[in-house]
Amino acid sequence: MYNPFSLDGKVILVTGASSGIGRGIAIECSKMGAKIILCARDLKRLTETYNLLEGQHHIIMQADLSRQSDIENLVKDLPSINGIVHCAGILEIIPVKYINSNVFDKIFNINTLAPILLTAQTVKLRKLLSNSSIVFISSISGISIANVGEAVYSASKGAISGFVKAAALELANRNIRVNSINPYQVPSNLLNKFTEVFTEVNMESTLEKIPLKRVGKPEDIAYGAIYLLSNASSWVTGSNLVIDGGFTLL
Ligand SMILES: NC(=O)c1ccc[n+]([C@@H]2O[C@H](COP(=O)([O-])OP(=O)(O)OC[C@H]3O[C@@H](n4cnc5c(N)ncnc54)[C@H](OP(=O)(O)O)[C@@H]3O)[C@@H](O)[C@H]2O)c1
Repeated sequence: MYNPFSLDGKVILVTGASSGIGRGIAIECSKMGAKIILCARDLKRLTETYNLLEGQHHIIMQADLSRQSDIENLVKDLPSINGIVHCAGILEIIPVKYINSNVFDKIFNINTLAPILLTAQTVKLRKLLSNSSIVFISSISGISIANVGEAVYSASKGAISGFVKAAALELANRNIRVNSINPYQVPSNLLNKFTEVFTEVNMESTLEKIPLKRVGKPEDIAYGAIYLLSNASSWVTGSNLVIDGGFTLL
């Protein structure tokens, strides 16, 4: 059947696959025919995601991506792949006056250094096949909007935008595409940690600021990832896809 968005036969590594957006991406990509390599630290939650996948031959590869040795071991053991979705990430609210190198390292290690090192290692060890696609799950924070307390988080995501453009240019001659997705609010463990975000009152005022009048679902982000991983986007590289219900229009 004609379907330029199919992921049939593609092997896709999804980091952050034990929860939230990464879990949603893994599930939806499996429904589109991809074999998924699920990566995160928590084996129990990774197994829950694994059990929700469609199709066969998916793999779990447990790793703490804040450790360089785990990244190196992960890439060494990887089969040849057709794509990566870098979704692992953390959000910490740190007012500017409390920023120090410890909090900076904690946030940057997983949000910025890990996906960049993982990309570098997969390129170096030639694990990415020709016509591969790398998708970074970044954020509108720091790129289009700002939130109090998110200075380091925003910087960690803003750095990804710069990397995406330069890497897209450099890897084009290997026919490897590099793009990012910048989502707005998708309720998940990452946001639920800050319980005040989704009280009824806050939800009302949040929805007022979203032209499409709802918060996001993991599937909303997954459909963008499917496009960027599929052959339908084979002439798209170095781009940022904003998925935010129109939030940044206001
Ligand atoms: N939710 C939103 O509204 C929103 C908006 C914009 C951007 N984003 C971005 O989307 C991504 C996913 O967020 P989410 O909302 O789905 O959050 P989430 O539910 O908390 O998921 C975060 C994922 O990252 C993994 N992770 C964290 N630290 C890790 C480490 N050291 N090594 C390996 N994996 C690690 C977690 O797995 P383990 O704990 O099992 O390791 C988990 O699977 C993040 O990069 C976030 O910045 C989210």
